[in-house]
Amino acid sequence: KRIKLIEVRSELGAGTRGASLGIDALRIACLNKGSDYFRRFNAVAVPDLNHVLFDKNHFPYAKHIDSVYTVLKGIANTVEQTLRFGEFPLVLAGDHSNAAGTIAGIKAAYPQKTLGVVWIDAHADIHSPYTTPSGNMHGMPLAMALNEDNRALQRNEPEPETEFFWRRLQNLGEPGPKLTPEHLVYVMVRDTQQEEDELIARLGIKNYVLDEFRAKGPKLVAREIYERLRFCDLVYVSFDVDSLDSRFSKGTGTPVEAGLNVQEAISLCHHLLENERVVCFEMVEINPTLDSENTMAQNAFDILEAATDAIQERLRLEAATSRGPRG
Ligand code: ARG
Ligand code: MN
Ligand code: MN
Ligand code: MN
Repeated sequence: KRIKLIEVRSELGAGTRGASLGIDALRIACLNKGSDYFRRFNAVAVPDLNHVLFDKNHFPYAKHIDSVYTVLKGIANTVEQTLRFGEFPLVLAGDHSNAAGTIAGIKAAYPQKTLGVVWIDAHADIHSPYTTPSGNMHGMPLAMALNEDNRALQRNEPEPETEFFWRRLQNLGEPGPKLTPEHLVYVMVRDTQQEEDELIARLGIKNYVLDEFRAKGPKLVAREIYERLRFCDLVYVSFDVDSLDSRFSKGTGTPVEAGLNVQEAISLCHHLLENERVVCFEMVEINPTLDSENTMAQNAFDILEAATDAIQERLRLEAATSRGPRG
């Protein structure tokens, strides 16, 4: 089984432009570190629609939702095909709205299987057009995957066309929810709105904040996460670089303090990605235009390389075992 890089340069869901350049910043960090990483893997690019950012925005409570829908369909198809082809999709994306496309693609490839999601992020990304404070769609991917509108705490009146595309986004891949709340685990979520806090409490979603993470250590945290997700056949790990402390994530649209250091992120990814149920890893929200030294991409590249090593080690182990005595 081989790793396939899926590059998605869409930045339509972010409030600040520039996340489309994150993948190229990673490639430059790779070059400057003398690594052969990007020569080791085949990459495929999913079409983005970043040019529409210049147009008038018609959807204040879900900016560019029509274009985001088109981009996410492309991601879902590519992820589905990659999995069906027997490869491991490693998605490098601009803004985090893209993750809903990835989740839809995984479920399209494995409609009968139960999916678990580990969401490593400063943000809960569980807003809907009915609750969003910003209209930025990178704050909404988990509400798409869960089919959760949070109408109980509604504060916006989205227009009918927004509702139309929102329902289509929720039905991407396979109709209905792709994920249930008990199969979602947050790590490092620490910058949320009240609507999100109340929803997370109501749904009972677990979140590891820094204190608990440091007290337990990455290995035990990973083990506890898999204990929680024991009924999931498949696991997807989504890494938003703003899960890192703002000192180590200068180049991202929404940096937040009290996050992981680079070593902690590497170690967490290592222990999560060793698990044979992981079918996809994604890294998002690198914006080099906010970071003159490109330290963000350098840190993110170190994490990406370590994460990939863990995936490859495990895939090699599996190949060796299946080539064992019984052929
Ligand atoms: N909750 C805020 C919003 O909805 C911030 C979301 C940031 N999300 C992200 N993927 N960086 O606007
Ligand atoms: Mn995010
Ligand atoms: Mn975030
Ligand atoms: Mn190990």
